[in-house]
Amino acid sequence: MTERQPFAAESPAALKVCREVETLRQLLSGPRQTGRIALVPTMGNLHDGHLSLVREARRLADTVVVSLFVNPLQFAAGEDFESYPRTLESDAQALEKEGAQLLFAPTVEEMYPAGQSRTRIDVGDIGDMLCGAHRAGHFSGMATVVCMLFNQVRPHVAVFGEKDYQQLQVIRQMVLNLHIPVSVRGVPTVREADGLAMSSRNQYLTPKQRGVAPKLHECLVEAARRVRSGGENFGRIQSDMKTELKAAGFEPDYFELRAADLSRPHADTRQLVVLAAAHLGRARLIDNLQFDSKL
Ligand code: PAJ
Repeated sequence: MTERQPFAAESPAALKVCREVETLRQLLSGPRQTGRIALVPTMGNLHDGHLSLVREARRLADTVVVSLFVNPLQFAAGEDFESYPRTLESDAQALEKEGAQLLFAPTVEEMYPAGQSRTRIDVGDIGDMLCGAHRAGHFSGMATVVCMLFNQVRPHVAVFGEKDYQQLQVIRQMVLNLHIPVSVRGVPTVREADGLAMSSRNQYLTPKQRGVAPKLHECLVEAARRVRSGGENFGRIQSDMKTELKAAGFEPDYFELRAADLSRPHADTRQLVVLAAAHLGRARLIDNLQFDSKL
């Protein structure tokens, strides 16, 4: 555990940074007696989307723990595990400003002392669709580390972004199915002024690709508009939007209209979500939009 001196002087409660599970448990034993603990799991390289989760966590609990761990278990071979941006120092500064109390930043060896974990959460069918169909083992690896973090921190509440809509559904299902005593809170997607969902992976975009990137959100808005105006076949909307994305330079993995629980929608399903993932240069961008088909 290190107390970060340069900031300690200015702020009433300095952010504590800890790297070991044992230290984390000790640091939380006092706060656990007197108040509520919130956990915000992240892979770091924090932007305003992450910080909006921290703000929500502060509203919900007395002690806010942010975890920062780039989890090898949820990256498939050939993905960006090695190059994922690691910016611990500036992340700690941002968290201190937001008033988080504890940053838990374990090493890979601390989390997986026996090498890669042999025990994995099987998330069922939901893990094979949409992003899961394109990222083998991703949701199982993600759910496994989130379950570990729940066991390490034992938070009353955990906060996640709706930007990763399928991830949030997987976590809600795991908590329900495994009777994990934590309340899960979702927070709306924070966007740039031009509609692009904030993401650590946006920095992989060249300036030219950055100019094109908001098209992904525009296509989601357009799909929702076409559903609401009625009479159109969902398959047709999906394929038109994929064609539009390709014309703009994306390579779409999927563009799908689903019921809010990610099941296939029927003609009378009202709570819908349109989800998309597409490669643009080196970046794989994902986004989604929830909407009511009748409003
Ligand atoms: P990461 O991509 O760092 O995201 C951490 C959290 O921030 C997630 O809950 C994500 O949905 C949320 N988030 C990211 N961009 C956002 C945005 N623009 N608006 C609102 N929230 C946003 O998601 C992960 O890490 C990992 O899979 C993790 C859950 C930490 C497990 O390893």
